[in-house]
Amino acid sequence: MTNLPTVGILGLGSYVPPRIVTNFDLEKMVDTSDEWIRSRTGILTRHVVDDGVTTSDLAVVASLRALESAGTSASEIDLIIVGTAVPDMTLPATACLVQDRIGAVSASAFDLSIGCSGFIYALVVGAQFVRAGAYKKILVIGAETLSKITDWQDRNTCILFGDGAGAVVLGEVPEEEGILSFDLGVDGAGGELLKLPAGGSRQPASHETVDNRLHYLKMRGNEVFKFAVKAIEESALRVLERSRLTVAEVDCFVPHQANVRIIDASAKRLGIPRERVFVNVDRYGNTSSASIPIALDEAVQEKRIGPGSLVLMVGFGGGLSWGSATVRWHSS
Ligand code: ACO
Repeated sequence: MTNLPTVGILGLGSYVPPRIVTNFDLEKMVDTSDEWIRSRTGILTRHVVDDGVTTSDLAVVASLRALESAGTSASEIDLIIVGTAVPDMTLPATACLVQDRIGAVSASAFDLSIGCSGFIYALVVGAQFVRAGAYKKILVIGAETLSKITDWQDRNTCILFGDGAGAVVLGEVPEEEGILSFDLGVDGAGGELLKLPAGGSRQPASHETVDNRLHYLKMRGNEVFKFAVKAIEESALRVLERSRLTVAEVDCFVPHQANVRIIDASAKRLGIPRERVFVNVDRYGNTSSASIPIALDEAVQEKRIGPGSLVLMVGFGGGLSWGSATVRWHSS
C-alpha cells in the first residue's frame, strides 16, 4: 500500500471510432438476438474501427484531447504509458508510435499489458514517477481495438466488445487532491478463463493456429462474471479503507464497463446507489483498458464528476487481474 496524495489527473480525453455495430447487426452474423444481448449484458451498441485503423490511431486522438484539456503541450510530457491488449504490433510498442505522432519529443514510452485492468495499472505506475520526483507530466492511455482479436463467429464473445481509447495527463496537484490510494492484484491461476492462445511464444503463428481460430479471444464468461463481482467488491473495499474513506463518501463509482449486470451486482454489494454509478456500457460495450478513461471523460463532461468529487475506479480482466484507485478530483 502506498498513498500518493499529490499526483492527480490534470486533463483527460477520449475517442471512439464513428462506425456503430448494433445488436441487430450481430443478429445477422451469429445466432443471437437483441433481446438476449440487452438482457444478459446491457449492451445496445458498440463502436468498431474500419479496416486499417489501429489502436495507436485511437490513442493519438484521445491523447491530443487530453493534452488540450490539461493545457499541456506534447513536448512537456516525460513519459507515455499505453495500457493495451491489442498493440499495433508486438514491436515497436504502441506507446512509441504515439510518442512520435503527437510530437512528445522529450518522452520515454512503454506499453503495459494486463488486459482490461490496463488503465488502472498504467495510472498507478505513472503516478509513481511523479510521486518519486523523477518526472513531472505523464500521459497515461488505455486504448484498444478488440474487434481485431474478436471471433465474429463466436456468439459467446463477439457481442461483448468494442473499440476506443481514453487518456489522462498526470501531474502534481495540491495536497489532499489527486490519487489517494490504490489496490492492484492478480490471480494467475485463473489465466485460462480469458486468453488469446496463439501468437506468442507458446503457440507462434502458423497455418494451424489460424485454421483453428486461436488468434481470437477465448473466454469462460460465466466464471469471469463470478470472479468480477467478487474482485470489484473486495478491491473497492480495500482501496477505500486505505484511503480512510467509506462507501458513503464516494461521489462517483466508475467501474470497468464489461456488463451492466456485473456493475449492478457489485454496486449493490457495495451499497452504492445507482445514481452514483457511471454506466456507458450500453453504448460502447467492453472496450477493455479504454473503458474507465472513456467513462471518466464522459462523467466529467456530464458534470457527474467535478472539483472535490471522490471518484472510485475499479478495473478487472484477464490475468485474472484487478486494480482500483480512489481520486479526489483536482480543483482547477
Ligand atoms: N446469444 C444467445 N445465446 C447465447 C449467447 C448469445 N450471444 N452467448 C451465449 N449464449 C447461450 C449459451 O450458449 C448458453 O446456452 P446453453 O445454456 O444452451 O449452453 C446460455 O446462453 C447461457 O450462457 P452463459 O455463458 O451462462 O450466459 P451468462 O448469463 O453468463 O452471460 C456473458 C454470458 C454475457 C458472457 C457473461 O457471462 C459475462 O458478461 N461474463 C463476463 C465477461 C467479462 O466481463 N469479461 C471481462 C473481461 S474481458 C477482457 O479482459 C478483454
